Formats: sequence, structure tokens, C-alpha cells
Amino acid sequence: MASLVRSGTWKALKNGSPSFFNLKFRKFLNPQLQALTVRSFSAIMSPPSKAVVYEHHGPPDSVTRVVELPPVEVKENDVCVKMLAAPINPSDINRIEGVYPVRPQLPAVGGYEGVGEVHSVGSGVKGLSPGDWVIPSPPSFGTWQTYIVKDENVWYKINKGSPMEYAATVTINPLTALRMLEDFVTLNSGDVIIQNGATSIVGQCIIQIAQFRGIQSVNIIRDRAGSDEVKEKLRKLGADVVFTESELEVKNVKGLLAGIPEPALGFNCIGGNAASLVLKFLRQGGMMVTYGGMSKKPITVSTSSFIFKDLSLRGFWLQKWMSTDKAKECRSMIDYLLERARDGNLKYEMELTPFNDFHIALDKALGKHGSQPKQVIKF
Ligand SMILES: NC(=O)c1ccc[n+]([C@@H]2O[C@H](COP(=O)([O-])OP(=O)(O)OC[C@H]3O[C@@H](n4cnc5c(N)ncnc54)[C@H](OP(=O)(O)O)[C@@H]3O)[C@@H](O)[C@H]2O)c1
Repeated sequence: MASLVRSGTWKALKNGSPSFFNLKFRKFLNPQLQALTVRSFSAIMSPPSKAVVYEHHGPPDSVTRVVELPPVEVKENDVCVKMLAAPINPSDINRIEGVYPVRPQLPAVGGYEGVGEVHSVGSGVKGLSPGDWVIPSPPSFGTWQTYIVKDENVWYKINKGSPMEYAATVTINPLTALRMLEDFVTLNSGDVIIQNGATSIVGQCIIQIAQFRGIQSVNIIRDRAGSDEVKEKLRKLGADVVFTESELEVKNVKGLLAGIPEPALGFNCIGGNAASLVLKFLRQGGMMVTYGGMSKKPITVSTSSFIFKDLSLRGFWLQKWMSTDKAKECRSMIDYLLERARDGNLKYEMELTPFNDFHIALDKALGKHGSQPKQVIKF
């Protein structure tokens, strides 16, 4: 919890205050919190924060609620950030469900990336000033709240000319797309990649980053009403070909490629049948990298794929990559991606939703209303 709310405030709230979920007036605070309030005359304090919290793992729409948290001290090396925007990513949902391998200690505030504006800084902070735009880099827990106080080192100052929703979403999905195109197979201009989950943010970024490098992309989407419109959108981003899964129910999928070379590298966001389709397209000795499991279905690989095609299967996890040497350069990669977004050369579909409507956005992110653009909370 230390990374989330400092000074044991959370514990004080949880154990001592009967108005934990409706904390509005100081007179209701327990003695520990009253002491904190008194200290505020001598220390820099953050404003109170409104946060999406969960005390137990479970279905995100029933275990999360919006609560008000009291001010916390902004210590010498701390920076208090007023959050501007933060997305709801599939991994945020998995963390709340309790099925993600790395999870914050409970109770926790949701969210793992976002962008904010520096509100105030501790006396020892030299590199950041009020008004700067910052992102947590590497990403860290607890971004679904209006004010966050964390050490200066957590924050990375970005160009304020960046579109807010791109700044809020750059550190996880676009970075994953960039790394996966770089780290597995040496791709040259004219090479081809194949992916399922092409409508995901990672998928949309793969299409565009591949295209900057002269790499062609073959893309697979789910069957849906309006699939022609979705295909057209992806083609406008740079997709060379787009198929729905059912269009690939043919004996010889490669016959559909019409002159495009066989892909050397495949990306699997979905699992199940969508993963089998990626494997079918790969050339002799090709590789499939799995980074998501949206269908929650396992990957099935035929024996002949290994013996006669010598395919390899790998996985990518950004959180693990963050502990490698290459991750030291992740901030310059973020600058590169944000520059592309500023130029209008990196785009993906998002929907900004006011924080007051958090649970509406959450329902959309949970797929309750069918396919939806990425939900980004605007504070
Ligand atoms: N390994 C890593 O380090 C890493 C890093 C970043 C992301 N990821 C993973 O990458 C995946 C995509 O993330 P994102 O934020 O880019 O996604 P997103 O923008 O939120 O989009 C979700 C994608 O999943 C598809 N989808 C949703 N429910 C599905 C289902 N039941 N069956 C099949 N497809 C389904 C959607 O297809 P429709 O458009 O058809 O609805 C859409 O393409 C997630 O699994 C995420 O956890 C992994």
C-alpha cells in the first residue's frame, strides 16, 4: 500500500473510520487522521483524492467503488500529481479479478498507467515543477485516482504537446508492439507479419509500426456485424490485408495471400482458434509470439507444425522486459512513440469517459456492450 497512499492513511481509514467509503468531513476522522490533519500546517499536503478502490478480488464491476481519500504528506523527494487521464486495460481487469501474476497488496487503487500534471513538489525535487506533464515510467499501480503522491523517480516528464489520451496509454500497449517487432525475428523491409486481435491497441500499433519499417501485415479480426467497416479502418492505418476468422475457414489459407510473401513472424493476442489461424499462415521456420489470451482458450499446435514446419512458439511479457537491460531505454522509446502520436502517425481508437462515469466505462471495458474502443478515464 505504501506505493499507493502514504503514511498508513489507508490502514487508518480501513480500520478506524466508519465512514471509509464516504469520507467527506474531517470531524469524522479517527485520532490518527486528525493528527495528520494537524501536521498539514507544517508539511506540504496533497489535496484529498478520489480513487477507484477494491478490497477483495472478484468481478471488477462488483468489487470496485469510488471513495474519497484524505490528503497525504508530500515528502522531500515526492511529487504530487493531479491525474488527467488513465486507461482501463485488460491487465487492470485481470489484476482486480486476482488472476494476474503480479498484483498490488489489498486494498488497492486500480490502474497501472496514465498521465498527470505536477501539482506540487517536495523541497528536494529538482527535475519537476508544477504544471509539468508526467507519466509513471515504468508503469506502476494506482493510477485510477485524482491525486497521486510518489517519489520523483517514478515520474517521467513528457512533452506537453502530446495528445492527453495517447500520453495516458503509451507505456503499455504501444511499447509492447514496438518491442515485439524488434526483439524476436530480424525483420527487413518487404517481410511480412501476421497477427490476430488486430483491433486491439497493441494490434493497431503493430500495423503502424510495421508499416513505418516497410513490413507488411496480415491481420485477423473477430467476426462481427460491421466487419467491413472495421477492415476499412485497419486498412487506413496501414494493414495490407484483413480477414475475419470465418473467412479463413478454407483448406489453403495461404492461397488467400495473393502475392504477399508468407509471414516470418506471428503475434497471438487471443488464443484458441485465432492462434491456430496465425500458425497456419507462418512460413517454414516461422515464429509465433503470444502476448495475450483474450479468448481464455488454450493454444493447440499440431505435431506436424513442429516436425515439418519447424515452427517456434515464444511469449512476451512487458513487465518481465522491464527488468532487462534494454528497458533502461524505455523512456526514449516512449518519447519516440509520443512523437509519432503528435505527428498523427500513430493512432488508435479510444473513448474518453469522465471519471464520474467510471462504472459505465468499466462495463464497456468488460465487454458487456460488445466490441468497444479502449476506455480512457478523464479525471
Ligand atoms: N504480454 C504483455 O506484456 C502485454 C502487454 C500489453 C497488452 N497485453 C495483452 O494484449 C491484449 C490486448 O490488449 P489491448 O489493451 O491492446 O486490448 P484492447 O485495446 O483493450 O482490445 C481488446 C482486444 O481483445 C479482443 N477481445 C475482447 N474480448 C475477446 C474475446 N472474448 N475473444 C476474442 N477476442 C476478444 C477485442 O476484439 P474486438 O475488437 O473484436 O472486440 C480487441 O481486439 C490483452 O490480452 C492484454 O492483456 C499483454
